[in-house]
Amino acid sequence: MEPRETVIATRGLTKRYGGGHLAVDGLDLTVPRGSVFGFLGPNGSGKTTTIRMLMGLIEPTSGEAHVLGQPMPRAGRRVLPRVGALIEGPALYGFLSGRDNLARFDAADPTADPRTRAARVGEALERVGLTGAAHKKARAYSLGMKQRLGLAAALLQPRELLVLDEPTNGLDPQGMREIRALVRGLAAGGTTVFLSSHLLDEIEQVCTHAAVMSRGRLLTQGTVAELASSARGRLSVTTPDTAEAVRVLKEHGVTDLLTADDRVTGELPAPSAAGGTDLADLADLNAALVRADVRVRAFGTERASLEDAFVALTGEGFDVAG
Ligand SMILES: Nc1ncnc2c1ncn2[C@@H]1O[C@H](COP(=O)(O)OP(=O)(O)OP(=O)(O)O)[C@@H](O)[C@H]1O
Ligand SMILES: [Mg+2]
Repeated sequence: MEPRETVIATRGLTKRYGGGHLAVDGLDLTVPRGSVFGFLGPNGSGKTTTIRMLMGLIEPTSGEAHVLGQPMPRAGRRVLPRVGALIEGPALYGFLSGRDNLARFDAADPTADPRTRAARVGEALERVGLTGAAHKKARAYSLGMKQRLGLAAALLQPRELLVLDEPTNGLDPQGMREIRALVRGLAAGGTTVFLSSHLLDEIEQVCTHAAVMSRGRLLTQGTVAELASSARGRLSVTTPDTAEAVRVLKEHGVTDLLTADDRVTGELPAPSAAGGTDLADLADLNAALVRADVRVRAFGTERASLEDAFVALTGEGFDVAG
């Protein structure tokens, strides 16, 4: 482990809850310093459970977790002051205003100078766009406002690492854009951000790296660019002779063929074994179409997205409703 380069590292991290349910299963996670790391997975895949273990809120059943080079939960007292965290459903005092909630959080931090408290609180409110609602009681806050207030609490002090569990949960599209801009700004300032999400779009827009979870297991991790390029885009052929094109492509192993107007798309067959390359396969397909007198106006693969990679990995789509 290289603590200076790796801010979160887990090995075989596992959590089995009381009822015997295996929520996180042998997780090996590596989060590089300076990354915006997306922890992606559908509901119930074990994201929050992992984050709770990282923050020392629950004990792993087995395996280990290092945060900022220190073992968790053992080194929590040393590590946690250097980490800002927003975890599912921030604990707020409903009877206090947003501003007073933050003052309370700040007062609970023994390293925070009381003389500069008001300025810190004001700045944190400003950064999450809550200044206008700062005087309102937190119990009157919407889900999105509560989420912003939790985020503001994590931003009271400059941190090396921010761990944000579904930070845009409950926000409208404008609020989501604001939080994404905030995350980019923090990352530009040198903070490593680890954020969970079940929204692929979000990860693709804001993250440099991502890990994909499914049912407690890590399916893959790497840079977002690597993950997206690991999935091949669909084949797309533009031609007036769509029926004939479909016949030829099917004959050559292309599946899931769809025709819309003058365009046929489909899933390419796996690259042929024994040294065959994707490019050669594509050229062969094109040649086969031409031999069958299909008039090809355009031929190529569509750019693969992270979503293609995810679907290829899990065979399932994503809930994008938020
Ligand atoms: N305290 C608990 N006791 C027993 N099972 C739990 C507990 N907390 C979570 N689980 C189960 O562990 C699994 C993983 O849950 P977890 O909350 O970590 O998932 P998640 O990825 O954060 O999901 P979501 O996207 O809905 O927030 C789920 O099947 C959940 O029902
Ligand atoms: Mg969760």
